[in-house]
Amino acid sequence: MTTPRSITPRSITVRVPAKVNAQLAVGAARPDGFHDLANVFLAVGLYDEVTVTPADELRVTCEGPGADQVPLDRTNLAARAAEALAARYGRSADVHIHIAKDIPVAGGMAGGSADGAGALVACDALWGTGASREELLDICAELGSDVPFSLVGGAALGTGRGEKLAELAVGGTFHWVFAVADGGLSTPAVYGEFDRLTPEAPVPEASEALLEALRTGDATALAAALANDLQPAALSLFPSLTDTLRTGTAAGALAGIVSGSGPTTAFLVKDAESAARVAEALLASGTCRAARVAEAPAPGATVLVPRP
Ligand code: C5P
Repeated sequence: MTTPRSITPRSITVRVPAKVNAQLAVGAARPDGFHDLANVFLAVGLYDEVTVTPADELRVTCEGPGADQVPLDRTNLAARAAEALAARYGRSADVHIHIAKDIPVAGGMAGGSADGAGALVACDALWGTGASREELLDICAELGSDVPFSLVGGAALGTGRGEKLAELAVGGTFHWVFAVADGGLSTPAVYGEFDRLTPEAPVPEASEALLEALRTGDATALAAALANDLQPAALSLFPSLTDTLRTGTAAGALAGIVSGSGPTTAFLVKDAESAARVAEALLASGTCRAARVAEAPAPGATVLVPRP
């Protein structure tokens, strides 16, 4: 007797959002090399889709823009997520993980973290482990500082190295434009440059004005409060981002900021019309490789209903 597809799915697809840091306050380097953060994450509606299918052994494939830069070996966060979950439940990670990429690769938008969270949720559903959300979040935190937020989505304040999350209320929809730079930046290199530029970093704290702007859905107030302590370091390593930031704000963005450790730049705009104008101006300027429009907040890792 064949088992109906709806009961034992042959594959599971999970959609996972990108993130932008509305505020990234960075403290001094800790003894373990990480930095304490006050990290206001906002999930944005650009998504990777991670599909897992039973296979003889663990295998990763990837398609989409920048797919050639994605490692397909065991260093891929999606592979590590599958192995971590399998190890916890005493089974083998015998799945084919396919990543359909739409989040800019190495862009400071947590694309790799999204794939880790996506693979974890997908394997969990495929294997029926029954893991609690807390267990999944623990595994996420072991995989990387931004991975728990990719699972949760919405908006959250991340403290510690960014992995301890408190969900935040958001009172409206924010419109963003992302300028994808030609090239990448290494996150450790940007933190290293931060250390060089900021010998006496203060204890990081979330901005009350920024949290209030999120709560009330006030884009103008949020624009005024956007802040990224890694921005001077990213600009120092990738000076042409200054031109991209200038182009976006000259085209009418409320504010522009480097996204996380960069080199993607993020522009908060008033509405969808303004987003289209800013995206067009950014592309026409030649100061970026691509411009993407997206709304926030977006939901976290979500299992998609299988296609019949
Ligand atoms: O946690 P994750 O693997 O994403 O971090 C990548 C790198 O970014 C770390 O190896 C570290 O150099 C830097 N980092 C940091 N402080 C944080 C998060 C990341 O220094 N809070």
